[in-house]
Amino acid sequence: MARKKIIAGNWKMNMTPSEAVALIEKLKPLVVTDEADVVFCVPAIDIIPAIEAAKGTNIQIGAENMYFEEKGAFTGEISPAMLVDAGVKYVIIGHSERREYFAETDETVNKKVLKAFEHGLTPIICCGESLTQREQGITIDWIRQQIKIAFLNVTAQQAESAVIAYEPIWAIGTGKVATTEQAQEVCAAIRACIGELYGADTAAAIRIQYGGSVSASSAPELFAQADIDGGLVGGASLKEDFGKIVNYK
Ligand code: PGA
Repeated sequence: MARKKIIAGNWKMNMTPSEAVALIEKLKPLVVTDEADVVFCVPAIDIIPAIEAAKGTNIQIGAENMYFEEKGAFTGEISPAMLVDAGVKYVIIGHSERREYFAETDETVNKKVLKAFEHGLTPIICCGESLTQREQGITIDWIRQQIKIAFLNVTAQQAESAVIAYEPIWAIGTGKVATTEQAQEVCAAIRACIGELYGADTAAAIRIQYGGSVSASSAPELFAQADIDGGLVGGASLKEDFGKIVNYK
């Protein structure tokens, strides 16, 4: 079964609303493609102007985070209903920076994943090992645990529409991209884990991205791997290079 590639930018805490509009204007002719879903995950305050600026293009706007409650006394948080009402389709959940700086855990990731599905949002669920874990040889065990907890109580039908982003922490923003073999090995292990949880059809349908210092030069080989269905791109998503990454072939 052919899976459509999904290439998503993660802007992180960059771009004011007016800068966001200018960047989308600049990138929109460069990211035209029929072969991949193209998503720009932007800061919450940029979502509405970004959706406006991306109207009539193939760019879909995603969020970088959301909270797992419906509404109420959670100062500073953004609810899934707010994202949906604004026109958001995708939401990054459990990025390693959220885990490191904002105390997100596998358990809160699972709550957010369930809430996203409840509202019809597609979660881009992040997992990844630290350098120490890789050196200890526990990468696959660690990732399998992250995946199993993230998918607790998620149905097979939901799971097949999910996106998983494998992002080795040591490769994020470091310019130190994982080797193609390392990235493929872990993405294959993630697919096998989904297969154990849900069966072969779900494993064949779910899309798995690689993230961590993806560039115009590393994208073609990475995205050609059997189990890598695109990328989650940080730094390079803010530049014209993102057009080359989207049109990597
Ligand atoms: P990077 O970030 O491409 O700048 O390494 C990737 C990410 O954190 O999603």
